[in-house]
Amino acid sequence: MSDAIAKTAQQAGATAVQRCIVPACAAQFGIREQIYVCSRCGGPLEIEIPLEILKSVPDLRERWQARAVSHDPRDRSGVWRFRELLPFDDDVPVITLFEGNTPLYDAPRSAKYAGLTALRLKHQGCNPTASFKDTGMTAAVTQAKLLGARAVVCASTGNTAASLAAYAARAELQCAILLPRGQISPAKLAQSMDYGAVICEIAGNFDDCMRLISDLADVPSIYIANSINPFRIEGQKTVAFELLEQCGWRVPDHVVVPGGNMGNSSALGKGFDEMLRLGLIDRLPKISVIQAEGSAPLAHLFAGLESSDITKNATLPDEIAPVANPRTLATAIKIGAPVSWKKALRAVLRTHGSIITVSEQEIADAKAIIGRDGIGCEPASATTVAGIRKLTASNKIHAGESVVALLTGHVLKDPDYVSHYHRGTLSFESVTTEGTAKTVQITGAFRNAPEKVAASKEAILKSLESRR
Ligand code: F0G
Repeated sequence: MSDAIAKTAQQAGATAVQRCIVPACAAQFGIREQIYVCSRCGGPLEIEIPLEILKSVPDLRERWQARAVSHDPRDRSGVWRFRELLPFDDDVPVITLFEGNTPLYDAPRSAKYAGLTALRLKHQGCNPTASFKDTGMTAAVTQAKLLGARAVVCASTGNTAASLAAYAARAELQCAILLPRGQISPAKLAQSMDYGAVICEIAGNFDDCMRLISDLADVPSIYIANSINPFRIEGQKTVAFELLEQCGWRVPDHVVVPGGNMGNSSALGKGFDEMLRLGLIDRLPKISVIQAEGSAPLAHLFAGLESSDITKNATLPDEIAPVANPRTLATAIKIGAPVSWKKALRAVLRTHGSIITVSEQEIADAKAIIGRDGIGCEPASATTVAGIRKLTASNKIHAGESVVALLTGHVLKDPDYVSHYHRGTLSFESVTTEGTAKTVQITGAFRNAPEKVAASKEAILKSLESRR
């Protein structure tokens, strides 16, 4: 590559802008302006990378691949390896924990369970703080430093908080996290304590915490790191690039993700879209989002859309009806008013994917079957395999198609859930259509409880024999 082209590629990100995604507004803002929503119409913002400049760069794929074996700290990160597509100057000091570069596993038992010939699982739980949030946080906290913020804050169901706390510690920034009291897995809370964050336990749910975060948006010394922040999405979009690289740039037919606050699905949509517009792929995978039945505002909206013309015209509705009292044991996605729903819906409509719900029983069994493939994920991640099973049953996914599910968090994020499932003590507080509460027992199809075995060779062999 000529020096001139190399320079162009390195500086492309620096000429990016922030743009309102509402087509009728499309207001543009500078890349170092500290805003989270459009100051003209209140719409969501997205970073616009000057892809035209990058089109003249002939060997982007080879460059990214070569960096994977380099020892430059930026190259060792699975996010900064793709820095031509990130909205930063080439020489910014990056805050990294060497995130990304996560494995893509074949999962034959999960495939069979889900009605597929083959299924691949991309395990984002193999990130430094054990969830996919790290890929976004490296970009958001790097931006916080550039803006001269004194503190970073987020609302969280646990993983965003743990991730932000770790990256803030690396950046020597103060960090405050707003958590719904009593609704966070103890393992996630423990992470944030260890990383030194100020932990504010709020009487309310995640959506209440998110509302409080909006109130903090006008404090200049504070930087908000929820996925409403478009820099988070920039980091998280790189999972699409890395996945394509791992697939030898053959586009999977389907990519399936869990849906909570909808940052992940938004980011994937953006990542694949940029690859298409750069000409590095020639079609988009269908992106499908799976929500837990009791916390599924976007699935409800989508169900209403499917039968109308809106799906064809890809026109985004203005409003979403929130779920006032979201419920699910998959606490990571216990969210009733997702902030990034518009971007996520746009990605699903553009790619002709689906948004569906799965039950608590389906999530729990899917999680256990993923475990039988030797892959440990947290409950929210297992919505994917449960969802794929439903999508194959309804012919939205065909058995022979290539399917990748994104696992978003590690099994050790929520060990209590796992233990209760296998011991047969997992239960769920549900509400009937009349509004009365009832306890639903989860009956694990793949239970595997510890058993008391006598301290003898014979007893151990007998135990093995009985389970053969
Ligand atoms: N899976 C896990 C493990 C999560 O922690 C989350 C979100 C999701 C899926 C959903 O992703 O919000 O981008 O649609 N957790 C956030 C948090 C809300 O605060 O940790 P999303």
